[in-house]
Amino acid sequence: MLSLRRMMPTARLTGVEINPRARRIARRLTAADPLIDVVSRLPSGPFDAVLALAVLQREPMRMIAEQVADLGRLYPFARFDDGVVALVDRLACGGFLLVFHAHYRVEDSSVADVLRPVGWFPLLDGPLFDRDSRRYDPTPPAAALFVKGDDKWAAISAPSSNS
Ligand SMILES: C[S@@+](CC[C@H](N)C(=O)[O-])C[C@H]1O[C@@H](n2cnc3c(N)ncnc32)[C@H](O)[C@@H]1O
Repeated sequence: MLSLRRMMPTARLTGVEINPRARRIARRLTAADPLIDVVSRLPSGPFDAVLALAVLQREPMRMIAEQVADLGRLYPFARFDDGVVALVDRLACGGFLLVFHAHYRVEDSSVADVLRPVGWFPLLDGPLFDRDSRRYDPTPPAAALFVKGDDKWAAISAPSSNS
């Protein structure tokens, strides 16, 4: 929230934090800012931008250390998909969705057809998993930044590795 505030001095910002202790800390750190709310559940929106940074994931270090091949028990694809659907539901048309450090690809989610990928960044140091929660091999391209459309976007292919 504080980094976002530095970049967007006048924006209204809403932080959603499920963990009570982390929520208390976030509220304390932002108490002086009348344009920041920290809440426990996703508000209804709509928002111009939604960011989920290192939220749609579980134990990333374990994924790497244990070379996990099947994420089904720890964090099934359906849980990720539910999360993405809820975020996109709160996003205004033309709004930005940024998902960073996730185990799955937003392109594989059930709302991918209303999202146009516009930014490719490294998603995670660890592996990516498919809709069956099986580890991708090889790892396909995965976008991090998307714009929400009000209809199906034409498929836009990921840039090649030398672009
Ligand atoms: C690894 S931290 C990342 C925090 C911050 N986004 C960052 O990049 O520094 C993930 C946070 O997401 C919170 N979280 C996980 N699932 C959540 C959910 N469904 N709703 C709200 N917060 C959630 C966790 O409690 C934790 O504080």
